[in-house]
Amino acid sequence: MNAKTFEHSLQTLKYPNLDRTLGELKLISTVKVNDGNAHVELLTVSDDSYLAVKAVIETAFTHEFKSLNVTKKTQAPKDTNYGHTATPNNRAPYAKNVIAVTSGKGGVGKSTVSVNLAIALAQKGYRVGILDADVYGPNIPRLTNTDLEKIRWNDDNKIVPSENYGLKIMSVALTTPTSDTPLVWRSSVAVSALIQFLEDVAWGELDFMVIDMPPGTGDIQLTMAQELPITAGVLVTTPQLVASDDVSRAIRMFQDIHVPMAGLVENMSYFIAPDTGNRYDIFGSGGGERLAERYNIPLLGQIPLNMDIRQGSDNGEPPVVLGNDELKSYYKDIVEEMLKAVKFKI
Ligand SMILES: Nc1ncnc2c1ncn2[C@@H]1O[C@H](COP(=O)(O)OP(=O)(O)OP(=O)(O)O)[C@@H](O)[C@H]1O
Ligand SMILES: [Mg+2]
Repeated sequence: MNAKTFEHSLQTLKYPNLDRTLGELKLISTVKVNDGNAHVELLTVSDDSYLAVKAVIETAFTHEFKSLNVTKKTQAPKDTNYGHTATPNNRAPYAKNVIAVTSGKGGVGKSTVSVNLAIALAQKGYRVGILDADVYGPNIPRLTNTDLEKIRWNDDNKIVPSENYGLKIMSVALTTPTSDTPLVWRSSVAVSALIQFLEDVAWGELDFMVIDMPPGTGDIQLTMAQELPITAGVLVTTPQLVASDDVSRAIRMFQDIHVPMAGLVENMSYFIAPDTGNRYDIFGSGGGERLAERYNIPLLGQIPLNMDIRQGSDNGEPPVVLGNDELKSYYKDIVEEMLKAVKFKI
């Protein structure tokens, strides 16, 4: 196999556990073949992802060459002032900072965390917008009690975002007849809709644009990272191991596409029984700490599993606004930690 065919095959190889190719993730730096001896240089950032990609390449191609050497290109040390992603477009020049709330896994509390962190930022006096990027399961309107609103345009032909609790809010749910109308878009259509929400919504000037991402590590996450200079990613996880596995995948993907990480939020961390005051670690414990240590990113806070959080959220009454002081403090404290962890433009 010559270098050209080898490189082509490498570009189409799938990243382990991700529906993305090495080519799409721009992970191949150089490919050389000399006399049946092959050398591949990878552009991965973390050691973990280097080893994972190396293993995939070796499994697929060892038998093709006399020797196969997969190395990692030495890169300049990681930007520690959390500038922004490699060379993204900027579809939201009106936003000074963009925070993407993600997790590898569904149902861990991304939307709840996004809304309450966004509101906690607004409570500090910042101008904050929240974009519901979960086009197939938009929850932000319900969480912010704006689910009955309908789409409106202003005189400049821009979409008017909903507003509540000090936030400007945009969600695909605003464009559907009822909040439970299912969307049957291909992902390319979903991605164009989100780009339109960045460009054609009258957001005004924002200090923070918070993006509630859909679960997983797919097209929408990648597109957002390519179309916006994400200032910081906030990863939401729960303590159990399967959640950690999924979040590890998300961390590795974001490291590889150079999205800086503000830190981890461990949600549904523990349960305090309201009648006895006993603590139960329903999903185990220490998952967030272990991940934070392993990937060297801050653990921004732990939020317990709490009935009032669930109830308030379902009723469009965010705990950081209408909960008791203890509930408010979980989200406010995380925002303080986040503001310490990252150099935001404010
Ligand atoms: N700390 C908490 N205590 C109790 N319930 C919670 C907590 N955080 C979130 N929930 C509840 O868990 C459910 C899932 O939360 P949420 O919708 O925020 O997760 P998600 O990660 O955005 O889900 P999806 O992947 O479907 O977008 C909701 O009913 C929410 O009210
Ligand atoms: Mg959600």
